[in-house]
Amino acid sequence: MNWKAILAATVLAGVACGSVVAADGTHDSRIAMMKKIGGAAGALGAIAKGDKPYDADAVKAALTTIAETAKAFPDQFNPDSDKTDAEVNPKIWDNLDDFKAKAAKLSGDAETALAQLPADKAGVGAALKTLGADCGACHQAYRITKN
Ligand code: HEC
Repeated sequence: MNWKAILAATVLAGVACGSVVAADGTHDSRIAMMKKIGGAAGALGAIAKGDKPYDADAVKAALTTIAETAKAFPDQFNPDSDKTDAEVNPKIWDNLDDFKAKAAKLSGDAETALAQLPADKAGVGAALKTLGADCGACHQAYRITKN
C-alpha cells in the first residue's frame, strides 16, 4: 500500500483531529490512537500534495505525534484481558514480538524523519513514503478490515 492509499483509507475512516486518547487498553483507545496517527499522517499528506503550504512546525508536530503514539500503541494490547476481544486479530497474540517490532519501526522512522526534519514539500512526501510503508506493513499483517 502506498501512502496515497493510506491517506485515502484514513479519510474514509473519518479521522477527526484532536481526538482525546484514553490509554486504557480498550478497543476504543486503540482506535483513538490510530485515528491520531491517521490525522497526523493526513496533515503531512496535505503538505506533500500541496493542499497546504509547507509549515515546519506542523511537520514537526505531526511527526512527533506519530513517533509517540506508535511507541505507546502496542501497550494497548493486553493479552490477559483482550484475548477474547473479537476486534483484535488473533495473529497479534501469536506474533506479539513482530507486532511490537512493526510499531517500533514506525516510531523509529518518524523519529529519524524528525531529526532530519523535512525542509520542503518534497521532503515531506519522501518521509511519508517511508512511514506509509510502515502503516501498510502492519495493517496488511494485523488489521482486521471490516469491509
Ligand atoms: C504496529 C501495527 C500498526 C502500525 C505500524 C499502524 N497501524 Fe493503523 N491499525 C493497526 C491496527 C491493529 C488497527 C485496528 C485496531 C483495532 O481494531 O483495535 C489499525 C487501525 C487504523 C485505523 C482505523 C481506525 C478506525 O477508526 O477504525 C487508521 C485510520 C489507521 N490504523 C491509520 C494508520 C496510519 C496512518 C499508520 C501509519 C502512519 C498506521 N495506522 C500504522 C495497526 C497498525
